[in-house]
Amino acid sequence: MCGIVGYLGNRDAADVIIKGLKRLEYRGYDSAGVAILNGKLAIRKAKGKVKRLEEILEDKPVEGGIGIGHTRWATHGEPNDVNAHPHQSQNKRIVLVHNGIIENYSSLKKELIKKGYSFQSQTDTEVLAHLIEAIQKDLDCSFEEAVQYALKQVEGTYGLAILNQDEPDKIIVARKGSPLLLGIGEDEYFIASDASPVIEYTNKVVYLDDNEMAIIKRTGYEVKSIANVPQNKKIHELEMSIEQIEKSGYPHFMLKEIFEQPQSLSDCIRGRINPEDQSITLGGLTDVWPKLEKANRIIIAACGTSWHSGLVGEYLIEHLAKVHVEVEYASELRYKEPVLIDEKDVLIAISQSGETADTLAALREAKSKGATVIGICNVVGSTIARETHAGVYTHAGPEIGVASTKAFTAQVVVLTMIALELAKRKGTISDEYYSEIISDLLKLPQKVTTALKEFDKVKEISALFTYAPNFLYLGRSFNFPVALEGALKLKEISYIHAEGYPAAEMKHGPIALIDEHMPVVVLTTLSHTNEKMISNVQEVKARKGRIIAVTMPNNREVEPLADFTLEVPSITDVLSPLVTVIPLQLMSYQIAVNRGCNVDQPRNLAKSVTVE
Ligand code: F6R
Repeated sequence: MCGIVGYLGNRDAADVIIKGLKRLEYRGYDSAGVAILNGKLAIRKAKGKVKRLEEILEDKPVEGGIGIGHTRWATHGEPNDVNAHPHQSQNKRIVLVHNGIIENYSSLKKELIKKGYSFQSQTDTEVLAHLIEAIQKDLDCSFEEAVQYALKQVEGTYGLAILNQDEPDKIIVARKGSPLLLGIGEDEYFIASDASPVIEYTNKVVYLDDNEMAIIKRTGYEVKSIANVPQNKKIHELEMSIEQIEKSGYPHFMLKEIFEQPQSLSDCIRGRINPEDQSITLGGLTDVWPKLEKANRIIIAACGTSWHSGLVGEYLIEHLAKVHVEVEYASELRYKEPVLIDEKDVLIAISQSGETADTLAALREAKSKGATVIGICNVVGSTIARETHAGVYTHAGPEIGVASTKAFTAQVVVLTMIALELAKRKGTISDEYYSEIISDLLKLPQKVTTALKEFDKVKEISALFTYAPNFLYLGRSFNFPVALEGALKLKEISYIHAEGYPAAEMKHGPIALIDEHMPVVVLTTLSHTNEKMISNVQEVKARKGRIIAVTMPNNREVEPLADFTLEVPSITDVLSPLVTVIPLQLMSYQIAVNRGCNVDQPRNLAKSVTVE
């Protein structure tokens, strides 16, 4: 969603900001803008991509060492030049960029209109610029105090960066609900929504927490609460490298990230599974194992692809550790009546970005009811990672493509390790079965490498189905969530309508859709559901559906029935999703490319969904 970049130092601020905004493009946006303060404020902004803003800056350059920039994902008011950020106050001396939503903007706006303020845009953000100006005038207070007073009146969420023409060497930033960090260089400071715009300049960052603000000047920075209490903030060292956030010769981030999975999975496993004695160590969970062992049930809360990995987790934990698991859409958790969450429950929040507003709200709800909350996040230092009692990082590396791929497989591996360790502690797994799964887990990077070799075949099949209007994905047991994930991947990047179903459900409705134009992807790799899957394939075949079967070398019974097959290496059933998802990721990628879609930034989507 919206992205913020700011700079204060001796470089050309517009350059740094444009480069930074490009790094944030993956978050999803529809307009972009920049404000540079060089004695006077200069603003350039436009609907469309950062490239468009760059062209405007070439025509009408702005120079200076202090500035703020923004990519906007429209919430209030359509994407257009006027609604793009930055927004100015009435006297045009205060200018700001904002992520999040000012929920009480309408009542604040009415008050300001009564005082004679007029509005140019339809955004909630513009209200804040006027409000700061009005407070400063009414109370005759400092810029900093006016920001504090204004933020005390605001209901909702914000990541904010503000400039004031009367204080030419200062940027004020503030955070509530929308991530913001401060990069600390040599005599220069960077502001960004995440670390990707900052990493090429410095690896030292300070993460702002909710209700905090930072006052950044050439002479240094200071962090305080909105209530004006000084905060002693830790400086974190980022481990991310610039190569990790570049395409390394791949045409798209998504393809790079799909092909990175052998590496991301070994990074996820490394140091956690000891190949010698097959023991599992998840350092972040040390203190919460007793809670997990005693838990009445485990609730998993997540959204989208992370929700699908949660569903795989449900099958894994129930099968291996015999604990009841409920997987909730994070956005719906709070509407369950009554949500009987208490201190005997454990909630696992899964989130690649660690910033998803719905997931954050679910974990806060569970925490407030006394549950132990555990995070499975990819982004180090993200809000969810910081607000949970304990957690495990997926170590998949930065995921830039909007469609989640390597984060999904890493989440499933973390859930597998949790399920196995819990099963061992509870004595619900035999030594032989434990050992079989661990040995396959250790071979996983190699097995994924093999699965990726089907890309050429995927390309051939994709060419035939590029213009199919619909797709159906069917799987059972551990592969049912993969069917959902395959369908989500296809629809989000190629805009083809696709649905995933537990295979047996097909005959309760979706079977009506099947005719010779309907491609049906069937996941037929599980030994314990094989016969039943074959029956489902027969049912599709009888109605002339086109069958694309994902098979394994030791399970080829479906091949004579299928129109096309994609083979993945043999693996123990519980780990099957980690290989069956690979051809589905590749197929959705290839079909989207064939259709000329913007694979890395699909329309209307955002990488980090920070609104509820
Ligand atoms: C799909 C996708 C989304 C995210 C969802 C949750 O490819 O990327 O469905 O999985 O928005 O995001 P995180 O995992 O960051 O909480």
